[in-house]
Amino acid sequence: MTATCQTRGAVAVITLDNPPVNGLGYDTRVAFARHLEAALADAAVKAIVVTGAGKAFSGGADIREFGSPKAVAEPNLLSLILALEASTKPVVAAVHSVCMGGGLELALGCHYRVAAPGAQVALPEVKIGLIPGAGGTQRLPRVLGLENALNMIVSGEPVPSELLFKAPGQQLFDRLIEGDLLEGACSFALEFAERRPLPLVRHLKVTHPNPEAYLQFARNTVGAMAKNFPAPLKCVDAVANALTKPFDEGMRLERETFVNLMMTPECRALRHAFVAERATTKIPDVPADTPVRAVGKLAVIGAGTMGGGIAMNFLNAGIPVTILEMKQEALDKGVATIRRNYEAQVKKGKLKQDKLEQRMALLSTTLSYADLKEADMVIEAVFEDLAVKEQVFRTLDEVMKSGAILATNTSTLDVDKIAAFTKRPQDVIGTHFFSPANVMKLLEVVRGEKTARDVLATVMQLGKKIRKTCVVSGVCDGFIGNRMIEQYSRQAGFLLEEGCTPAQVDKAIERFGFAMGPFRMGDLAGNDVGWYIRKRRYVEKPHLRYSKTADLLCEMGRFGQKTGAGWYDYAPGKRDAIPSPLVVEMIEKHRAELGITPRKVSDEEIVQRLVYALVNEGARIVEEGIALRASDIDMVYLTGYGFPLWRGGPMKYADEVGLFNVVQAMKRFAANPNDDAAFWQPAPLLAKLVAEGRTFN
Ligand code: NAI
Repeated sequence: MTATCQTRGAVAVITLDNPPVNGLGYDTRVAFARHLEAALADAAVKAIVVTGAGKAFSGGADIREFGSPKAVAEPNLLSLILALEASTKPVVAAVHSVCMGGGLELALGCHYRVAAPGAQVALPEVKIGLIPGAGGTQRLPRVLGLENALNMIVSGEPVPSELLFKAPGQQLFDRLIEGDLLEGACSFALEFAERRPLPLVRHLKVTHPNPEAYLQFARNTVGAMAKNFPAPLKCVDAVANALTKPFDEGMRLERETFVNLMMTPECRALRHAFVAERATTKIPDVPADTPVRAVGKLAVIGAGTMGGGIAMNFLNAGIPVTILEMKQEALDKGVATIRRNYEAQVKKGKLKQDKLEQRMALLSTTLSYADLKEADMVIEAVFEDLAVKEQVFRTLDEVMKSGAILATNTSTLDVDKIAAFTKRPQDVIGTHFFSPANVMKLLEVVRGEKTARDVLATVMQLGKKIRKTCVVSGVCDGFIGNRMIEQYSRQAGFLLEEGCTPAQVDKAIERFGFAMGPFRMGDLAGNDVGWYIRKRRYVEKPHLRYSKTADLLCEMGRFGQKTGAGWYDYAPGKRDAIPSPLVVEMIEKHRAELGITPRKVSDEEIVQRLVYALVNEGARIVEEGIALRASDIDMVYLTGYGFPLWRGGPMKYADEVGLFNVVQAMKRFAANPNDDAAFWQPAPLLAKLVAEGRTFN
């Protein structure tokens, strides 16, 4: 079903019915137009109510149709809205739950709007790189005023219906209906059935006491905020047209801008990210209706950097957590850090004091495994040492109740080996949080060879509850994100050997859009972490060449910000990275020992080598089935590694550049004697896609 129509006395009720959010796809629009026509033809019908079935009025356009002929096929949304405006009988939109994008634009085409309290009202197009395209920029300012409308359109954020009703001068809703919405809407419709002329939003005037100054101010602030995204400033222009241009001219310009934005790489990237985010939850052999285990109580082992942050996620979601440590001091320190983090949020006004107390009240601590018996799930976050993990998992296997989920936060160890320490490997899974665990969106959910389907389904659902972007990864060294970043770091090292300084590499990739270049990142995270991992990894893989500069740096005791010196120098108490002559000297000496004559490396080459290293390793990861799809890799990089959102993630970026071009560049890099020729052999999947003229996505 897509839309239904029923009469209630003299009122025809047209109900959008296209689960999950009554998206205005082609079939729905056809059905809606048909019902509207029938209602207009029916002499017994005096007024029409438009509403949505289930959990939404309407979530707007069907994004899956974007770019396809169906999106614009008649009746398109614009013609539907024109038909509503032309209706000779009053049409009342009965808004509830979710009213967004095209859904709100449809409502604005009706003569009247009534709403239930608590409906989320938004024009979120800007979030996918667009402006509203069916009159939103022209009609919303006419009912909400210039400033309120612009705020909603530029932010894309939802506003609760009751706020839109109360503010003075706001005419978005004619009535707020407590109680039965449909009944209220129908009596409203009958009340206004005979009133003529029928009011149209297009006839209202947008006024503002000082429009020039306000729009200038808006352009300045929006321009500064939206640096790499064209859409927000276009929103300002479009809304300004509502003030200065006749309605139809404003509509024409809105359409033109919408169509142009649709073709920008930024819009493609944002739409990709939107679809990719939703795709992460789909696991082919774990359907959506897989039964899940109840997780009412959680335990965390280790109250260090990660354990504390992990616990906070669950406390925030109202799930009680017990943290276990070896010593009371470690527990006290961990709990104090959690409290301090919450207090910082209270200071910033992001959390209320009573909420802080509620969350802390959900936290308990223990030194004894016996206290974990009741927990439905445990997440281990102890030292990254297989022997320590073994001892912890053997103990957990003894004490945890049957059916409890045993998760490890390991970042580099083999989850299957950890599972094998227990007699219940089916209950073991990896939950790889990113630091700071209470802030970072990404959660890699590591599916072991024996992990049960319902365990995976439970953890994915739980991840959603704590508002993470969960990406499934198979077991391999580094999982998805760190396995790829290793290749990126290796390239960064080679670039130093060939003639770059750390600052040059960082600047080039930061200009590309990464939040932080590899060397500034190393200084922030601690260069000793990688040092420790390399000692293990390159003993296991002696054939893998890497630049020793990072080891030499650590031998100089330059671990990064925490020691006041790393790839850069740091003034006491400051975080500004100051290029270090000592480090440059160390690199030059090492280069001379290798017999490499330095050359000038272009910024373009730096960016290509760093990003294509991610792409080539990413392609192998997809091919091996470690990632379920290329877009999952993009989500890992967008949410966990600071990859620029407007480029859509490494795999999407490669698609945009053209995989043929990417492979050509790889061939050039393979011919560089100071690089790793074997690595630059295009992954078979990449070669295949190029041969078939296809893309990752
Ligand atoms: P950490 O050193 O800050 O904390 C580890 C805590 O575990 C310490 O408080 C220690 O007292 C406690 N602990 C050690 N052995 C224990 C045992 N047998 N029983 C109970 N408690 C024990 O380490 P961090 O950084 O929190 O790392 C924990 C895990 O998370 C490691 O596996 C690490 O690889 C992983 N991880 C770390 C990330 C990071 O950025 N720090 C990111 C993602 C994963």
